[in-house]
Amino acid sequence: MHAAWGHRTVCGQVWAGLGPFPGKPGNPWAKLGVMDGLQDRKIILGVTGGIAAYKSPDLVRKLAAAGAEVQVVLSAGATQFVGVAALQAVSGKRVRQDLWDPDAEAAMGHIELARWADMILVAPATAHFIANLAGGQAPDLLTTLCVATRAPMVLVPAMNQAMWANSATQANRERLQQRGVRLLGPAFGEQACGDVGPGRMLEPAEIVAELDQQSSAPQQDLAGVRVLITAGPTREPIDPVRYITNRSSGKMGYALAAAAAARGARVTLVSGPVACTCPSGAQCIDVETAEEMYRAVMGEARDADIFIGCAAVADYRPAQAAPQKMKRKDASMSLELVRSPDVLASVAQLSPRPYTVGFAAETQALERNAGSKLKAKGLDLIAANLVGPKMGFDTEDNALLVLWPGGSKRLQRAAKSTLATQLMDLIVGRFKRVPRPIDMTGSD
Ligand code: C5P
Repeated sequence: MHAAWGHRTVCGQVWAGLGPFPGKPGNPWAKLGVMDGLQDRKIILGVTGGIAAYKSPDLVRKLAAAGAEVQVVLSAGATQFVGVAALQAVSGKRVRQDLWDPDAEAAMGHIELARWADMILVAPATAHFIANLAGGQAPDLLTTLCVATRAPMVLVPAMNQAMWANSATQANRERLQQRGVRLLGPAFGEQACGDVGPGRMLEPAEIVAELDQQSSAPQQDLAGVRVLITAGPTREPIDPVRYITNRSSGKMGYALAAAAAARGARVTLVSGPVACTCPSGAQCIDVETAEEMYRAVMGEARDADIFIGCAAVADYRPAQAAPQKMKRKDASMSLELVRSPDVLASVAQLSPRPYTVGFAAETQALERNAGSKLKAKGLDLIAANLVGPKMGFDTEDNALLVLWPGGSKRLQRAAKSTLATQLMDLIVGRFKRVPRPIDMTGSD
């Protein structure tokens, strides 16, 4: 199991599918019914001295476009990477840097500023800044604000992967999280210094989407409901270095887990190997093979109220995984494959069973194939999508055809996080109308 932080990128939370934010402040997206969680929020954006600071003007612009009022505060190091003039232009406010600036203090003192903020967001947050904050040190304006504020704090770490892995940094991170400071990322990937690993700052669009999701308080209509979700691909070993897998980024399953957790559900996410962060509020169980996924799911399914099978489970696995790396010999070779357990169908056969939702990724005849699957597996609902080049896989957006016995609904192309919310709306509505039988055994 892993906790809700880590080196993996947030998935299914990016709104890039709706295109770039328009240049003018105001919240055009809110007019479309999305992204109003940041409307009129007063955000102090702290920028500290990492290379990712060059993205700050874009972040300010996106926060402003989402309706937030942004006051930028720079650390001394940040000025090496980003220009004050650019930040001033996009935020429309004088950038604050100095604890001892008499002019700025006369306009709004640092304590007033700390009280003004609804949220302090620090992006990028360097190892040095994180260490100062963890130790309660306040050597400059930004750290002083952080010590003085009662507003929630969100840090978006960005640093070299070795600095992030350093045990002091990890201890500081843990201390801050225990105090309720939220962390977004860091993401895994290639770094400015050439290293590859965890330490990249999340992209501005991802940061804004995450904050928006946290800030909009959705109805708690799944409070206490136990939701079990599978996500990602499985890997079926051929030998110690090779495996059979399916194309799947896990983004949809993770977005569903985030959407369910945001509505108050107790979410367990059983995930194959993906580059996604465990959504906050969810408990994540990492698995690799279909067999492991089956065992993890069957261990939890009897306690679940809703099961959503979103994983791309490998249908077949090699009958035997070779214990050593197989050598290249003949011009061709055959692998004997055997069926993997069907996780979804197995859950659907339980009695009593959770409200059971499946997915169908089809390359043709979407409605017919999904309809047959709904019947054959005995599901309560199925969400189907067409897959192919640039469609469905590893994209930020998708479109779904949702079928249930006696009904259907098309969910138009949108970001996976939006689709996840819409699909949860459908599930919540139908799940309420199909209550589970009352357990008469008296056991909990
Ligand atoms: O049978 P098919 O793979 O087309 O159905 C897709 C649905 O079944 C998805 O919801 C997927 O998560 C689930 N599934 C499963 N175990 C398998 C194969 C598919 O849970 N072995």
